[in-house]
Amino acid sequence: MPVHPVSSFSATVATLRRAGCVFAEDEASLLHEAAASPDQLASLVEHRVAGLPLEHVLGWAEFCGRRLAVDAGVFVPRRRTEFLVAQAAALAPRRAVVVDLCCGSGALGVALATEAAATLDRVDLHACDVEPAAVRCARRNVGGLGQVYEGDLFDPLPVGLRGRVDVLLANVPYVPTADVELLPAEARVHEPRVALDGGGDGLDVMRRVAAEAPEWLAPGGSLLVEASERQRDAAVEVLRGAGLVPRVVVSEELYATVVIGTAGRGRVKPCRRYGPADHVKR
Ligand SMILES: C[S@@+](CC[C@H](N)C(=O)[O-])C[C@H]1O[C@@H](n2cnc3c(N)ncnc32)[C@H](O)[C@@H]1O
Repeated sequence: MPVHPVSSFSATVATLRRAGCVFAEDEASLLHEAAASPDQLASLVEHRVAGLPLEHVLGWAEFCGRRLAVDAGVFVPRRRTEFLVAQAAALAPRRAVVVDLCCGSGALGVALATEAAATLDRVDLHACDVEPAAVRCARRNVGGLGQVYEGDLFDPLPVGLRGRVDVLLANVPYVPTADVELLPAEARVHEPRVALDGGGDGLDVMRRVAAEAPEWLAPGGSLLVEASERQRDAAVEVLRGAGLVPRVVVSEELYATVVIGTAGRGRVKPCRRYGPADHVKR
């Protein structure tokens, strides 16, 4: 842990604690490390006390052991989603075409591409998101590791990827509309609604992704989605209904549920496409 001037460090801890930060000492340490001057420290602490997520105050989040840029207004990648990445890494062939759909900051694709670099020959990474702020942030994180596109789900992807995607990462929004108001303010206020709201039962975006996934997956390729424990059986049926072979993997440690749908090795039959209007039923 870095050494801080005792009085100012303990004052920061006390301020954060009063504001309700559970890990006040850890946060104070990160804020002191990030601040280049006392004025900047005061500003960072002020933003944190005002309720901004720590990651937005710092400008980065730790994900799979790396610091990735997370700009204001961009979904903060959650630690539980590292479990989805670990499952994807285990499934990826040595030369993998990877799509990170609904990529947000691009954390999943970057983590998979860099982690897998040690064991795979090559990852051809394509990421996309509908939110311009997320796309800008993902472009910074992805850098030379791949391409980042802006648009609705699969729309911006190069058509040449159809039938060639080995790993389709899709951590889509999956909070049921009625539950968005129950989220902590850090998410509800500071993350865009489009990153959280998954429609009535939370699975509307997942349905749209699953319906198109078979057209994009390579034979034997897999779609990986995260869901809540409560949504698990419905998510399995969504993937099965799209013609994929579903299975569920759970991490009790990370409190993560991932549903994996694998395409058959034969010819793929295109499924029904759902439009954005099917999702936005509020
Ligand atoms: C739960 S966040 C996940 C972000 C990132 N995958 C992660 O785990 O950190 C969902 C993301 O989906 C994006 N999104 C929502 N609807 C979309 C759509 N129709 N097309 C593309 N992206 C969409 C949001 O902008 C948001 O970045």
